[in-house]
Amino acid sequence: MKIENIDFKGKKVLIRVDFNVPLDGNYNITDDTRIRAAVPTIKHVLENGGAAILMSHLGRPEKKLKPDGTMDKERFTMRHVAGHLPNVLNTVVKFAEETVGEETEKIVATLQPGEVLLLENTRFYKGEKKADEEFAKQLAKLGDIYINDAFGSAHREHASVATVAKYFTPENRTFGFLMESEVTNANRVMNNPERPVTAITGGAKVI
Ligand code: 3PG
Ligand code: MG
Repeated sequence: MKIENIDFKGKKVLIRVDFNVPLDGNYNITDDTRIRAAVPTIKHVLENGGAAILMSHLGRPEKKLKPDGTMDKERFTMRHVAGHLPNVLNTVVKFAEETVGEETEKIVATLQPGEVLLLENTRFYKGEKKADEEFAKQLAKLGDIYINDAFGSAHREHASVATVAKYFTPENRTFGFLMESEVTNANRVMNNPERPVTAITGGAKVI
C-alpha cells in the first residue's frame, strides 16, 4: 500500500530510518543530512494522527568491541541522535533504552498520537545482522504499521530492514518518501537520463 493511502489515525507506526550519522570525538553529530531526510515521512505520520516509533542502527558496534569484548554502548548509543532529533522535528522525542522487550512495549503502550519514540541501536542485538526472525518479531510487536524509509540501509538484509516486514500485511507496510524519491531518481538516471550525464559515486565509513 502506498503511504498516501494508509490511514495512520490512532496507529503506532514503526519506521526504519537510517540515522547512521557521523559523530565527532565528543559524540556530536557533524552532519545531520540523514536525519533531515527522514522528516517528511515522520511528519506525515504525525500529522495524520499516528505515533512514530523510530528505529535505526548507528555505526558497527559489533566490530568495534571494547578491550573486555563487550560493545561500546557509550559510543554507539542512539542517545546521541535523540539529543538532536527534537531540534529537527520541533517536538519532544522519547527514548527507549532497550530496542525491544517488555520495558519498551510499556513505553509504546502509553505513546499518544503525534508523539515520537526513538529506539536504542538495533545493532546492539546479534539478531539484527543475522536477520533473526525472533528479533524481527519483537520489533514488529511494537507497531501496527511498518514503514521502511532507510534508503542508506536498504541493501542490508537485516532484521529491522528486511525480516520485520514479513510480520505486517501488505496493507500495513510501505516505504517512505525518502525511499520513494531515491528510487525514482535512480530509475530516471538509469533508464532515461538527460544527456550528457556525469556520475559521481563514493562512500566513507565515518565511525
Ligand atoms: C551506511 O552508512 O553505509 C549505512 O547506514 C549502512 O551501514 P553499514 O554499512 O554499517 O551496514
Ligand atoms: Mg555502508
